[in-house]
Amino acid sequence: MANYYVLLGPPGAGKGTQAKLISEKIGVAHISTGDLLRENVKNRTVLGLEAQGYMNSGRLVPDDLIISMVRERIALPDCSKGALMDGFPRTVAQAEAFDKMLQDAFNAKIACVPCIEVPAVLLIERLSGRTMCPNGHVFHQVFNPPAAEGVCDECGAALYQRDDDKVETVTKRIEVYENQTAPLIAYYDQAGILARVDGTQQIDSVTAQIFSALGIDGA
Ligand code: AP5
Repeated sequence: MANYYVLLGPPGAGKGTQAKLISEKIGVAHISTGDLLRENVKNRTVLGLEAQGYMNSGRLVPDDLIISMVRERIALPDCSKGALMDGFPRTVAQAEAFDKMLQDAFNAKIACVPCIEVPAVLLIERLSGRTMCPNGHVFHQVFNPPAAEGVCDECGAALYQRDDDKVETVTKRIEVYENQTAPLIAYYDQAGILARVDGTQQIDSVTAQIFSALGIDGA
């Protein structure tokens, strides 16, 4: 049976780290709107050129652009087996559009929304120490270091720091999350599908909490 999940949480909570581990384990597509946008920026597409200014200043890309990007992605064949959304939805308008997309495309509803909770002071520490490779593998200089400094363990590519991980942009992203995305906690809680996860624990402990929320044996 196909299942659709949304990973909610502030910037740096560990959504990307967990989404990669979990989607591989349960065999559903991992859809990160941040990764899709960065790919568009890299390839200098019309969407990428429009999105870049919003991303670099820590603001959200407009809903209509995001919703049509996700609508195209969800139509690809791998999503018929289920999907784990990472960084989407981020506004109530996106959440309502996603509910409709799932209904229209798969006659499905979101099964569960794990919300990874981490206080702001830790988020800044995590994002300012984050490095990643062009293929989306994520590390941290202290909490999750690669075996060889500056080199991705998974694919050998050089690691870099994201443009929007500077402290002033991170602070803006956290503020945007509080104002525009945090209302989704109540939205999904009212729908009875929200599961709160303590994101301050170590990575494998957070993974175990999410598996438990999804009702899946993660062993
Ligand atoms: P996006 O790429 O989605 O960024 P984000 O939501 O801000 O999330 P991050 O990728 O920064 O953090 P994460 O929670 O994935 O944490 P990670 O696992 O890397 O979006 C970027 C921009 O694109 C937005 O600002 C916006 O402009 C635009 N955008 C994207 N989607 C949009 C949408 N739907 N609508 C509008 N605009 C949109 O972990 C962080 C670090 O912590 C890593 O170094 C990791 O190794 C480490 N870490 C992870 N877990 C732990 C742990 N348990 N303990 C210790 N360290 C840990």
